[in-house]
Amino acid sequence: MPKINFIKEKKVVEVPEGANLRREALKAGVEVYSGIDKYIHCPGLGICATCRVCIKKGEENVSRQGWWEFFNMLKHPLTFFARLGREKQLRLACQTKVYGDVEVETQPEINLYGERFWG
Ligand code: FES
Repeated sequence: MPKINFIKEKKVVEVPEGANLRREALKAGVEVYSGIDKYIHCPGLGICATCRVCIKKGEENVSRQGWWEFFNMLKHPLTFFARLGREKQLRLACQTKVYGDVEVETQPEINLYGERFWG
């Protein structure tokens, strides 16, 4: 069974293959939302783009980003900036399925500059 290592929370959980990352985080008591987003967010439909997480290791072990997730990440300003410079690692937890071991950073820092944004 795949393992999800939530780095900040120092919590490792075993999940069934194909498990939804957001659902497993909530089950494990891991908070994926920050600030007001804890109270105002969509029910895991990929619309609000507030459940952003950074896949630090094992990005090959999660589902590929689809156009729905990609589009919704671009329309949310904080998620847009958080994504700069780590386009493949930043994901919406509710749209990510886990197929192997991964290390996940919840509530990743927002990178206002990115590596390529101004350069
Ligand atoms: S919970 Fe709204 S986009 Fe993930």
